Amino acid sequence: MKLPDELMFLQNKNAQQKETQASMKGKVCVITGATSGVGLEAAKALAKGQASLIMVARNAYRAYEIQKELMDTYSVSVEVVIADFRILDDVRKAAAQIQSMSSRIDVLINCAGLHSTKATYTPEGHETVFCVNHLASFLFTQLLLKTLKDSAPSRILQINSEGHRFNGLDIHDLDWKKRHYTGLRGYGASKTAQLMCVWELNDQLIGTGVTINAMHPGDVKTNIGSNNGWLYRMFSKLMIKPLLRDPVISGKAIYYLVAEPTLQSTSGKFYHLTLEEIPAKHALNRTLGQEVYDISLKLTGLK
Ligand SMILES: NC(=O)c1ccc[n+]([C@@H]2O[C@H](COP(=O)([O-])OP(=O)(O)OC[C@H]3O[C@@H](n4cnc5c(N)ncnc54)[C@H](OP(=O)(O)O)[C@@H]3O)[C@@H](O)[C@H]2O)c1
Repeated sequence: MKLPDELMFLQNKNAQQKETQASMKGKVCVITGATSGVGLEAAKALAKGQASLIMVARNAYRAYEIQKELMDTYSVSVEVVIADFRILDDVRKAAAQIQSMSSRIDVLINCAGLHSTKATYTPEGHETVFCVNHLASFLFTQLLLKTLKDSAPSRILQINSEGHRFNGLDIHDLDWKKRHYTGLRGYGASKTAQLMCVWELNDQLIGTGVTINAMHPGDVKTNIGSNNGWLYRMFSKLMIKPLLRDPVISGKAIYYLVAEPTLQSTSGKFYHLTLEEIPAKHALNRTLGQEVYDISLKLTGLK
C-alpha cells in the first residue's frame, strides 16, 4: 500500500538505503558540525572515502582531537577552522579563511544545528535555532558559492530534517519575538526556512554545475538537545534515545548523496537518508519561499 506523501517518512526510515563504492579521492569537502553525531559520522565516512576535509567547528579541543584521529586512521588531509555559528561575523571569517586555504570546494555539507526547548537569542538578536540552523548555513553557502562554481561540478548538501514538518515559520516574526516559542515549532521554522532557500538557490544554480539538495539524516542517537534542561534530557534519555539508531547510517547516507556519480546533476531534492521524498506542503510554497530568501539575504547583510 502506498502511503500519502506526508507519511512516506515512516516507510523510508526502515527501507533499504542506497550505497556507493565511489571514491572521494582528490575532492575537497567543507563540513560544519563535524564534532559530534551526524556530522562526525559523515566526516569519518568522507575520510574513509579519501576526501580532503575542512571541518568548521566551535569546539576547538574536540575538532583538533577528531582531526588527529581522522588523519591517523585514514591518511587524509583534515584542516580545522574555528567558528561559532551563533555569530554571523564568525561565519564570514570562516568562509574567508577557507577561501584563503583552498581554491576549490567540491562538496559543502551544512550540518551544524541544534534544538532548543526555549527561545534564546544570539548577540546579534536572532533566535538561536533560527540563526544556527538557517541563517548561518545560508550565509556560509552564499559566501562559498563563487568557489563552488569555480570548482564545478560541485555539490551542496543541507542537513535538514523531517522536523521541518512542524513548521512554525512566520515571515513577520522569524526571530520569535512576538509569539510563544516551542522547541518543535522553533526547530520546524528553522528547517522550513532552510528548505525554502534550497529551492530558490537551486533555480539560481541551473547551468552552473553546482547542485543543492537537502536531507533528513535519520532518527539517530546524537548530542542534539543536550543544551536543554535536565527534565528534557531525562525524558530524551529514557523515552527518545532508546528508539534512535546509530548515526553511522547518517554518515553513510551523506556519503552516498555527495559521492554517488549518478547524482552528479541531481538538484533541488529532499531525501530521507538516501531516498527521495516529498517535503511538507508548506515548505513548497514558492511565493513565501522567495520572501524568506530575500529576508535571509537582508538579515545576513548580503543585501
Ligand atoms: N539526530 C537526529 O536524529 C537528527 C534528525 C534530523 C536532523 N538532524 C540534524 O542533523 C544535524 C546534526 O545534528 P546531530 O543530531 O548530529 O546533533 P549533535 O550531535 O548535537 O551535533 C551538532 C553539531 O552542530 C554543532 N553546532 C551546534 N551549534 C553550533 C554553533 N553555534 N556553531 C558551530 N557549530 C555548532 C555542534 O558542535 P559542538 O560539538 O560544539 O556542540 C555539533 O558538531 C543538525 O542540523 C540536526 O538538525 C538530526
